Amino acid sequence: MKAVVASRPGGPDVLELREVEAPSPGLGEVAIDVLGAGVNRADLLQRRGHYPPPPGASDIIGLEVSGRVAELGAAVDGWTVGEPCVALLAGGGYAERVVVPAGQVLSPPPGLDLLAAAGVIEVAATVVSNLQLGRLRSGEVFLVHGGAGGIGSFAIQYAKALGATVITTAGSADKLIYCRLLGADHAISYRDDWPAAVRAATEGGVDVVLDNMGAKYLDHHLDLLAPNGRLVIIGFQGGTTATLDLRRLLAKGTSIAAASLRARPASEKSAICAQVAAEVWPLLGDGTIRPTEHRVYPLAEAAEAHARLESGDHTGKIILQIASS
Ligand SMILES: NC(=O)c1ccc[n+]([C@@H]2O[C@H](COP(=O)([O-])OP(=O)(O)OC[C@H]3O[C@@H](n4cnc5c(N)ncnc54)[C@H](OP(=O)(O)O)[C@@H]3O)[C@@H](O)[C@H]2O)c1
Repeated sequence: MKAVVASRPGGPDVLELREVEAPSPGLGEVAIDVLGAGVNRADLLQRRGHYPPPPGASDIIGLEVSGRVAELGAAVDGWTVGEPCVALLAGGGYAERVVVPAGQVLSPPPGLDLLAAAGVIEVAATVVSNLQLGRLRSGEVFLVHGGAGGIGSFAIQYAKALGATVITTAGSADKLIYCRLLGADHAISYRDDWPAAVRAATEGGVDVVLDNMGAKYLDHHLDLLAPNGRLVIIGFQGGTTATLDLRRLLAKGTSIAAASLRARPASEKSAICAQVAAEVWPLLGDGTIRPTEHRVYPLAEAAEAHARLESGDHTGKIILQIASS
């Protein structure tokens, strides 16, 4: 089968389209003929050699796909060969065929074509599981940075559906408009004094921050959190190392949590996928959550797709098209 392989750690140019052996499904696994693969920021880290796959996972990049069931491993039922599906992966998505534990395979969300559906499950599973970790409730104030990005554009809409007041940031005027169209109550440029703008927008502070920035914004987040606020760290775009005076947590009863979806065991990922199908798919079906903008590149242009994501120019998701239909 054809797959895109990172020949060595490095820039987008290390991505090469190659012929590799197709995987076969083992016990409890489903093989999928891939139509599209979502491109995620974590893929850039893996390509650079900073985010190795968990033990046992394919070393081919790619955390989510859409496609059709190709073959069932032993002890898998409920699927028919040829059925359309989407899947959350620990790796292997940039390829014509992938195998995945059956609990991480879902029917596609309603209201999306199958190619666009390739870019939904990773952000949905990340946001749903981490807002559960942060215990976001109706009536609370929620902050997510990068509201026009993959995680941010979904998080704005899901948090609104939960009944939260949503504050987000973005880096350009166009992206701020896009965030407001998605439903953000306040969209603020992170190039300005965004902490002051967040403070002005909230009376009692922010209840939950979904934090893709890490070290760079830790001080600001601790200042902005309301009493009993929750900081949920999912990414380190602003670095990994900061100094924290623990008394600041005591003063307001602040909680800090962090989680990596990819590192979770298959049993947890299956439970998260079931929650996504039960809670998020109906919201996509009735239009409460709108599919975010996406741009499609052929698999052979994976390097261009990575360069685009790295440039920060994109809005929404980037998808690699692997088969023609
Ligand atoms: N822990 C997990 O399980 C998990 C799972 C998935 C993703 N993640 C992490 O989540 C983060 C976002 O992933 P993604 O796929 O959504 O990437 P993405 O689409 O590239 O979005 C990244 C966003 O970061 C924003 N940003 C850049 N610099 C910023 C700054 N100085 N202040 C505020 N925002 C800034 C960008 O805003 P502009 O475009 O407006 O400049 C962009 O919207 C990444 O760190 C990724 O590793 C974690």
